Amino acid sequence: MVRIDDLRSRFKDNLQDGVLILAKLLNVDKSYIYSFGEREVSKEIEDRFIELMTKRQKGYPIQYILEEKDFMGLNFYVKEGVLIPRFDTETLVEYIIEYINESHKDNNIRVLDLCSGSGAIGLSIAYYCKNAFVYGVDISDTAVEVANINKERFNLTNVEFIKGDLFKALGGLGLEGGFEIIVSNPPYISKEEIRSLSNTVKDFEPLLALDGGEDGLDFYRSITRDSKRFLKNEGLLIYEIGYKQGEDVKEILFKEGFEDISIIKDLQGHNRVVLGIKRN
Ligand SMILES: C[S@@+](CC[C@H](N)C(=O)[O-])C[C@H]1O[C@@H](n2cnc3c(N)ncnc32)[C@H](O)[C@@H]1O
Repeated sequence: MVRIDDLRSRFKDNLQDGVLILAKLLNVDKSYIYSFGEREVSKEIEDRFIELMTKRQKGYPIQYILEEKDFMGLNFYVKEGVLIPRFDTETLVEYIIEYINESHKDNNIRVLDLCSGSGAIGLSIAYYCKNAFVYGVDISDTAVEVANINKERFNLTNVEFIKGDLFKALGGLGLEGGFEIIVSNPPYISKEEIRSLSNTVKDFEPLLALDGGEDGLDFYRSITRDSKRFLKNEGLLIYEIGYKQGEDVKEILFKEGFEDISIIKDLQGHNRVVLGIKRN
């Protein structure tokens, strides 16, 4: 047996994560750790704590250890193998929710979330816009498994996740020309930038979620081209982008004939979202 305070003080350089991890292991609130530092924990908890803190010191993401990440006011389950939802992505989701409330308030609509990962985008839309039915597509088994766990966690019935390769996953479902909105936060890191990513991201988050091909734009080209078959007339195509990709992605939409193309900035003033409207 060891006292909580003594255990924490072994990792003085990272007291904050120590509190979160201990609270998770003991299944208690953070305040318990601060308030009852003199209480003792079992050898089993001690060993597990040391194991996880050592992993953490090597850059393993805290969200994978805690198995959660807050996004759009919802607490998402995450685990290794699925991208941890980013705060930056809330800019995209907030825009879509406002767009639905303004342009589709009184009708039922279909939304497609390509490259859905943990379900962060699609589930947030389904949660806040009950008139939307959302399809999520991801090529990774782990992503679809995690997204379905989150679907249950939030008690949603207006969303369905399909495992597959982009639009091929929708083959045979009769959804051509059926979407008011297609959204994607695809892998968009270029080969060169992947090398310069921080270890926490590069070594522990799935490469499949990051690798956007040589110049990072492969998914934008392919999704923009094929989206025209699946969008309704006046349908919205909307992407999260890397902050240097605004002009390139705008150009891709322009070449494919999209109209009303624009860029939206995130809270830090970086280009973060590109959108366009399909008109027949
Ligand atoms: C940048 S992550 C985005 C995850 C999630 N939408 C989010 O915003 O947190 C990209 C996702 O694309 C998925 N992916 C990669 N290639 C794909 C493909 N060909 N078809 C469908 N999904 C793909 C990855 O598995 C990963 O979950």
